[in-house]
Amino acid sequence: MAGIALDQVSKKFGLVEVIRDLSLEILEGEFVVFLGPSGSGKTTLLRMIAGLESIDSGALMINGVRSEGLAPGQRNLAMVFQNYALYPHMTVAENMAFGLKNIGLPAGQIKARVAEAARMLEMEKLLARRPAELSGGQRQRVAIGRAIVKEPKAFLFDEPLSNLDAALRVRTRVELAELHQRLGSTMIYVTHDQTEAMTLADRIVILNNCRIEQVGTPIEVYTRPASRFVAGFVGSPSMNFLPVTLTGNGDRVAARLGDGAVVPLLSAPAGEGPWELGIRPEALTVVSEGLTRATATVVERLGDRTLVYAKLSDGTQVIAQDSGKSAVKAGDSISLGFDTSELHLFDGQGRAVLV
Ligand SMILES: Nc1ncnc2c1ncn2[C@@H]1O[C@H](COP(=O)(O)OP(=O)(O)OP(=O)(O)O)[C@@H](O)[C@H]1O
Ligand SMILES: [Mg+2]
Repeated sequence: MAGIALDQVSKKFGLVEVIRDLSLEILEGEFVVFLGPSGSGKTTLLRMIAGLESIDSGALMINGVRSEGLAPGQRNLAMVFQNYALYPHMTVAENMAFGLKNIGLPAGQIKARVAEAARMLEMEKLLARRPAELSGGQRQRVAIGRAIVKEPKAFLFDEPLSNLDAALRVRTRVELAELHQRLGSTMIYVTHDQTEAMTLADRIVILNNCRIEQVGTPIEVYTRPASRFVAGFVGSPSMNFLPVTLTGNGDRVAARLGDGAVVPLLSAPAGEGPWELGIRPEALTVVSEGLTRATATVVERLGDRTLVYAKLSDGTQVIAQDSGKSAVKAGDSISLGFDTSELHLFDGQGRAVLV
């Protein structure tokens, strides 16, 4: 089988087991993003695939070859780090050629590969410069070029854009997406930035405490988060979580909010509370006659829409959305409409139960 597969891999640092029985399959040509907060195990997992960390138990398959025992150089992968140290005394071309010289590739082939990578990354005019004469984004491109010339089976990126300023991050992100389309290679990309994950990934692997919370396409993890953790981590501003009690039975089930308002649910959930109703700001909107009322505390005008931070009568805080031309001011009493087709319900374990 092509691609990369982890089968029940575990990893200990000293006596502490950080990764336990983790399994994951990445298809050939897929762009997979590892997304999670700091310390969730993203780098460790990537380094285990690269061979920079050992795998204590379990199997790693790379393009059908059992690889957990192979040295990093034998795995035919290229890794791009956040701190992409370039050799300062070498030109761009020499930096890209360095790894290939080391493995003894003939000079003609090295030249051809460097030229091709430079063309792809639109760096032909920069080949004679040294790193000090490049912008941060250009340096990052050299680091990616250094990976491309290796013609690896897969690219592994560990937060490669986090040293760039916001505008350059967006530009380089688009370049990476284009590069993936052109090369068609398998790419694994680590980030804690959910926008990068949503925009780049074919599938996102969401990690929490070194465990996989969910694997899915960006739209799947956004619209059908499997857990409260995923629901809260993906999406900005974050989903609202409202403590509720369930009332009724059969097909007339509802969730009662802390202020007494009742939100109808489509079906009775299985599981045990305490329950939380999840609703994203775009599904909780300022309307003329909604399900409940709240007092606006802060109003953020984003141009195309307005975010209204508000408090229900029992003190529960929510973020609601209004149009760009919203007339709501801080202190106003507002009415909130719930889009009941966009509700999420989480049980006492934080698991999503369909409503
Ligand atoms: N060499 C090490 N020795 C001991 N513990 C380690 C080592 N490397 C990582 N860890 C632990 O493993 C866990 C996962 O760390 P890891 O670096 O993979 O997280 P991360 O998701 O990449 O975080 P960040 O977003 O901050 O880079 C953390 O609890 C960390 O403290
Ligand atoms: Mg990391």
